[in-house]
Amino acid sequence: MTTGGLFVSFEGIDGSGKSTQARLLRDHLRGAGHETLLTREPGGSPGAEEIRALVLQGDPDRWSAETELLLFTAARRDHLERTIRPALARGAIVICDRFADSSRAYQGRGDRRGMVDSLHALMIGVEPDLTILIDMDPEAALSRAKARATAEERFEDFGIALQQGMRAAFLALAEEFAPRFAVIDGNRAPETVARDVAATVGARL
Ligand code: ADP
Ligand code: TYD
Repeated sequence: MTTGGLFVSFEGIDGSGKSTQARLLRDHLRGAGHETLLTREPGGSPGAEEIRALVLQGDPDRWSAETELLLFTAARRDHLERTIRPALARGAIVICDRFADSSRAYQGRGDRRGMVDSLHALMIGVEPDLTILIDMDPEAALSRAKARATAEERFEDFGIALQQGMRAAFLALAEEFAPRFAVIDGNRAPETVARDVAATVGARL
C-alpha cells in the first residue's frame, strides 16, 4: 500500500514481543528523524478502541465466530479510514501492532479463511508494505504473556495448543505472502531482535 509513507505491521503469537519491538522500532526511526506513527489492532482510532473493548473483554462466548470477524473488520475499517490512510498520505511511517494477517490466522481457523478473505477484499483491500513476523517458541511466549495481568485474557486463555496452531498459521502466511514478510527470531534479547528489525525496515526505506 504505497501512498508516500511506509506501512509496516508486526505479527506473531501473544507474548512474542510484537508490542515491545514495535515501540523500539518507533523510537529508532524517530531518532533517525522520520515521522512515525505507532498504532495497534484491534484499535488505533477512537471507534476501533471501543470495538476492541467489545471483542476482548467480557464473556468470550457472547459473539459467534462470524460476529467476531465482523467486529475485527469493522475496527480495521475505522482504523484505516481515520488513522492509517491519513498518516500515510502525509508521508509517515506507520507501525501497526497486528493487522489483517491476525484475522487470517485467528478468525481464519478451520474452514473460515475464505470468509476472512472475502470480507477483507470487500472492506479493507490493502496490505502492509512490510510485515514483520516475530517468530518464537509458544511455551516461552505464553509464560511471557501470562506474566502480564490485564482484562484482555480472551485468546491467551486457550493456552499452549492454540499458541502452537497460531505459530504454524503465521509461518504459513509468511510463505504465502513471502514478498512482504520478514520472519525474525524472537527468542533472543529485545535489543538483538530490535537490531534485526531495524535492518529489515532500513532496507525498505
Ligand atoms: P506481544 O505484544 O507480542 O504480546 P509484548 O511485547 O507485550 O508481546 O511482550 C510480552 C512480555 O514479554 C512483556 O512483559 C515484555 O516485556 C516481555 N518481552 C518482550 N520481548 C522480550 C524478549 N525479547 N525477551 C524477554 N522478554 C521479552
Ligand atoms: P493484542 O493486544 O495484540 O494481544 P497480544 O499483545 O497479547 O499479542 O491482540 C489482542 C488479541 O486479539 C490477540 O489474542 C489476537 C486477537 N486478534 C484477532 O483474533 N484477530 C485480529 O484481527 C486481531 C487484530 C487481533
